[in-house]
Amino acid sequence: MLDRFKVVGGASLKGEVSVTGAKNSVLKLMAASLLAVGKTTIRNVPEIADVEIMSELLTRLGCKIEYSAPNGTLNIDVPEKLGHRADYDLVRKMRASINVLGPLVARLGEAEVALPGGDAIGSRGLDFHLKGLAELGAKAHNEHGYVIAEAPHGLVGAEITLDFPSVGATENIMTAAVLAKGKTILDNAAREPDIVDLGNFLISMGADITGLGTPKIEIIGVKTLTPTDHTTLPDRVVTGTWAFAAAITQGDITIHNCRPSDLEVPLDKLVLAGAVITTTKDGIRVKMDRRPKAIDVATLPYPGFPTDLQPMIIALNSIADGDAIVTENVFEGRFMFVNELTRLGAKIRVDGHHAAISGIPQLSSAPVVATDIRAGAGLILAGLVSDGVTFVEGGYHVDRGYPNFAEQLQALGADVSRVD
Ligand code: UD1
Repeated sequence: MLDRFKVVGGASLKGEVSVTGAKNSVLKLMAASLLAVGKTTIRNVPEIADVEIMSELLTRLGCKIEYSAPNGTLNIDVPEKLGHRADYDLVRKMRASINVLGPLVARLGEAEVALPGGDAIGSRGLDFHLKGLAELGAKAHNEHGYVIAEAPHGLVGAEITLDFPSVGATENIMTAAVLAKGKTILDNAAREPDIVDLGNFLISMGADITGLGTPKIEIIGVKTLTPTDHTTLPDRVVTGTWAFAAAITQGDITIHNCRPSDLEVPLDKLVLAGAVITTTKDGIRVKMDRRPKAIDVATLPYPGFPTDLQPMIIALNSIADGDAIVTENVFEGRFMFVNELTRLGAKIRVDGHHAAISGIPQLSSAPVVATDIRAGAGLILAGLVSDGVTFVEGGYHVDRGYPNFAEQLQALGADVSRVD
């Protein structure tokens, strides 16, 4: 298996890329398809490892899956009789597996889902998910590493307020409440575009949902849902990664099939760093013709600066002109990759959830290890502005979120390949 990226520094990325569907949306749509018996079609599905893992999970629950790679069409045939257990070997590979919890409890009145355990980007509890489901009437307990949730008499709508606008908890509660008896009001809900996409998917299945994209979502439960045909939204994190790639390497990238309105804060930050961003017919063009200026950023739930682009902003600040502070407000463990970046010579000091970065003109190549999907992409971008050859280990992380990343970088003029 070619698990390392070999990155030759010194490239200025120029050319065009096309963005496919959002990983963080598609995985949730796949889980939500369990809510209706019959064949649901999801379009614009990226060819990434996480889609394969979710497909395996749904197959083990009894679904039949067909994926056609060239046009990214995924057909999920959901049987009447569905399994209710999500095994540890899959959940540990991909935390989004816990998104089957809500749909399974809603449809079957029972679910057993392995606890995802530790994660390289922070503790990531499940308490908001379970508290929300409990308020809908599902009793949950832990047994042998599994969450066992039961609602033998069905779910009943409730008023639920989240302590934090958690994306996963909002999704699990929404996908359970659509089949609950009566009305659910979910307050302090997440507002990410992925939530709106999932809500629209559920509405197209017959669900009654209002308030999507606001902190207050109202759901009136229906008796059954029907299969649907839905095209997912473009991946805003992949779009943002390409935009940062252009800025970091002083390049010029036209990004097709993306939605800049989902990325207002990160794109504004890039403009402050000196990038010129223009909108095109189906996306944006990001051009940078000098060394970026250092920029302060604090990550926040949407519409704030996304935590998933935090490695990219730290990589940019590492080679920027000036000093910057990056504050991580969503995942406390997300600075792990900073140690890898300092191996490339970056000048970064971490204090709690703040990273203070002093930009230097060029990084110095070294072998580094990707700790998660976005850290992997950030290290590859950092390798592009290092002298010499950087090897990034843990390429499988990158494959979880970026389809054909090495090939796409090559098409933009970079010397990046996979080696064993
Ligand atoms: C999703 C995304 C991830 C993104 C994150 C925030 C997917 C597959 N992943 O993750 O890429 O970085 O949103 O935009 O879509 N928390 C608790 N208890 C809970 C739930 C969450 O304490 O029950 C905490 C987490 O530890 C974290 C914060 O809440 O500190 C936000 O987590 P959440 O929004 O739930 O992120 P995910 O859905 O896991």
